Amino acid sequence: MKKILDLMTEQFSKAFAAAGYDEKYGRVTVSNRPDLCEYQCNGAMAAAKEYKKAPFMIADDVAAAISQSDMFKSVEVVKPGFINIIVSDSMLSSYINEMAREEKLGYEADGSDNIIIDYGGPNVAKPLHVGHLRTAIIGESLKRIFRFAGNKVTGDIHLGDWGLQMGLVIEQLHDNKPDLPYYDETFEGEYPKEPPFTLSELEQIYPAASARSKVEETFKERAQLATYKLQKGYKPYRALWKHIMNVSVADLRQNYENLNVEFDLWKGESDAEEYIDEMIADFEAKGLVHESQGALVADVKEETDTKEIPPCIIKKSDGATLYATTDLATIIMRVKEINPDKIIYVADNRQEMHFTQVFRVAEKAFFSKKAEYIFHGFGTMNGKDGKPFKTREGGIMRLENLIAEINEAVYNKIMENRQVSEEEARTIAKTVGLAAVKYGDLSNQASKDYVFDIDRFTSFEGNTGPYILYTIVRIKSILEKYAQTGKNADKLSGGVNSELNESEKQLMLELSRFNEMMESAYREMAPHKICAYIYDLSNAFNKFYHENRIIAEEDEKKQTGYIKLLEVTKRTLEVCIELLGFSAPSKM
Ligand code: ARG
Repeated sequence: MKKILDLMTEQFSKAFAAAGYDEKYGRVTVSNRPDLCEYQCNGAMAAAKEYKKAPFMIADDVAAAISQSDMFKSVEVVKPGFINIIVSDSMLSSYINEMAREEKLGYEADGSDNIIIDYGGPNVAKPLHVGHLRTAIIGESLKRIFRFAGNKVTGDIHLGDWGLQMGLVIEQLHDNKPDLPYYDETFEGEYPKEPPFTLSELEQIYPAASARSKVEETFKERAQLATYKLQKGYKPYRALWKHIMNVSVADLRQNYENLNVEFDLWKGESDAEEYIDEMIADFEAKGLVHESQGALVADVKEETDTKEIPPCIIKKSDGATLYATTDLATIIMRVKEINPDKIIYVADNRQEMHFTQVFRVAEKAFFSKKAEYIFHGFGTMNGKDGKPFKTREGGIMRLENLIAEINEAVYNKIMENRQVSEEEARTIAKTVGLAAVKYGDLSNQASKDYVFDIDRFTSFEGNTGPYILYTIVRIKSILEKYAQTGKNADKLSGGVNSELNESEKQLMLELSRFNEMMESAYREMAPHKICAYIYDLSNAFNKFYHENRIIAEEDEKKQTGYIKLLEVTKRTLEVCIELLGFSAPSKM
């Protein structure tokens, strides 16, 4: 469906042409004086220069040329030469009716790319913390938006499953349980099928080992060696690694499921291992790398750089490969398996340098099979003190605990109203809590830091997830009441009303902006635009709700029009929250 702005711009362009001016001046925009008009065209101001004529004279000519159109209720020239526009009820109502008939509410999905989104990136054996929350929330929403726009999208979690944390766990476990067969070099039997630890044991092993490695140099060296052996295929450690993976990944799956985050691929850094040797040989053959203090590095700086971009280290002097090596090899794997047009990496802003280096090496090395690489960096989630979010005790907040805290806050709010049983309140609190967290995050532009404020995020009023859900629940309940009266809006009418009262019109105006908003949310990878839109839409709906009697409306035709408007509002809100990655309960 054409965007409402474009429809109007077409009319105005024609009017400019008919009045003897260049049609390029016909652009219509949303009014910045909503108290005066709904839309405006400022083209006469710009045209005045070209035609050396007073702007209001041009505006008058254009307004005269346009007055025939039934699209507008009024087209008014105000000095010095603005054209104020009020759209007609009939045009708006037919636009909304058409939108209601469309599967994507009038949004024209024209994406046709094959895209990989790399997000999540948790590190196996380490507990998930809030830092991983943002990439999961943002990445999931981008994945849905890109799909909605028509692209083929593969979401890959890209587990951090190959780093030093594995060596640390292996060596700590060695000290805790020295008799395990994995540490017996003479052992020739089959390794046990059962993991030698539970999840909670594993969760204690890593922090202990990590703390120890910081004070005990020999322990750190042991862990580095163990990591190296693991990566080179040492059988006992591979066997142990599989156990670490199984136990940890089962828990991760649960955590992401609770977040309503779904990956198509559960690949990890380890999956790229098999491509590394050949890749390095290829870099050497192409002369992309050279030796520097025993390490193998690729120069990536460019003349236009405004800050220092250090060389990308591909292999350390001890033969170990690095984060960048893995990311490069992963690109080779992805090109081979998926052949993407684009790879989007959602990660913390602090990883920007890493990705700049990786992309530059990739641009030089993989020129024959090229994908577009995009780094979508996000800011830090801070506490109310403006510093990175911590627990009350000052430690790293585990994701699970954070979610539990949010759910508790929402649960208490629901119980204040006491309209549902405790059990029901618990279930609802999960749905609403998730919306609180996700909306709180996504309503900010991703690249910026934001303050995580549980009280504000869980409030049922204001620019929050719960407020949006509350609005949807309100609509659902009205529709239910209407259905209980035994009436059927589908049988009674063709659609929304065509003679509108003020709040009804405002609601329709908001609705009609859906396709335009979607287009820019997609183009700019900006879920916060969806948040801003549904906040405005919810406000417009609630105003409409307070100013009109819906169930008590006696004029049945009018009532049916209201019901149709409620239906399309509900659907639009639901489509939007689905794109943000959460859903609405039926009560709250
Ligand atoms: N595992 C990394 C971390 O926790 C994030 C991975 C991001 N994705 C990537 N392809 N490097 O910092």
